[in-house]
Amino acid sequence: KRKIIMDCDPGHDDAIAIILAAAQPELDILAITTVSGNAEIEKTTMNALKVCDLVSLHNVIVSKGASEPMMRRRENAPSIHGDSGLDGPEFPALSRSWSEEHGVDTIIRMIKESEDRVTLLPTGPLTNIALALIKAPEMKENIEEIILMGGGTFGNWTPTAEFNIWADPEAAKKVFDSGIPLVVMGLDITHQAVATDNVINQVMNIDNNVAKKVGELLAFFKSAYKETFDFDGPPVHDVLTVAYCVAPELFTFKEVNIVVETRGEYTAGTTSVDLLGVTGRKPNAKFGLTLDVDGFWDLMIKALKTYSAS
Ligand code: BDR
Ligand code: CA
Repeated sequence: KRKIIMDCDPGHDDAIAIILAAAQPELDILAITTVSGNAEIEKTTMNALKVCDLVSLHNVIVSKGASEPMMRRRENAPSIHGDSGLDGPEFPALSRSWSEEHGVDTIIRMIKESEDRVTLLPTGPLTNIALALIKAPEMKENIEEIILMGGGTFGNWTPTAEFNIWADPEAAKKVFDSGIPLVVMGLDITHQAVATDNVINQVMNIDNNVAKKVGELLAFFKSAYKETFDFDGPPVHDVLTVAYCVAPELFTFKEVNIVVETRGEYTAGTTSVDLLGVTGRKPNAKFGLTLDVDGFWDLMIKALKTYSAS
């Protein structure tokens, strides 16, 4: 089984990523750690716990991570995810609370204790991963790769910066400069994974409670993307990290050099993606180019069907 840690800020698409991962027999989720991003840290952590209850991940540790970016003022994204960070569906009262261990320490401990190398799936700002690398640089050896959602050749929070990188550029720089093998799902590829009305209908027609909640999440996400960006359907960005773990054949990539802008007057948080190789810098990432869209949604629908009717 492939050992993964999901570091996230649920978040509609983060939540769906967890739901997809929980349905994959070949994945072993060692931990879910949370970060401030789409909403404040208590909210993203409670949202992670709600999703764990929904898909019966009762034995996976959920640890609360960084509440603030490393150097900048915190900003959250209620315009996209609502005030709770996971607006739309109703969830029952939580069956448990988060761990007493800090998310950064959980990441370090799990990586050190694991006999096999661990894959990290960050789908929020990269604060926890950067702090873990600073606190325990030796754990690098035991990281298989980092498959992250963030960046791209254009932006969604500023004209040039994507939200996860923009929210904590110094942390992102630490991760992109780390030398750890990176797979980067930027906006260029995540905008191909749009939940169309046809997809949302298929999800809603699956007769179980998990699919019902996913349908409600997508319905809220759809209205937010319509309102904010005038998109006809919401891209489910974060889900691509999990899809790549289990079905890499659905993706095409280019090995490129990517650096993070931390100082630009207008461009802080921008990823400079050297697609044409003009810098001469060594590639440090596999950058997602194209997605087999039908194959991706098949994977998602099949996963949702595995949850039992209730
Ligand atoms: C990213 O920002 C958040 O809104 C989503 O959860 C995703 O991780 C997309 O820019
Ligand atoms: Ca996210």
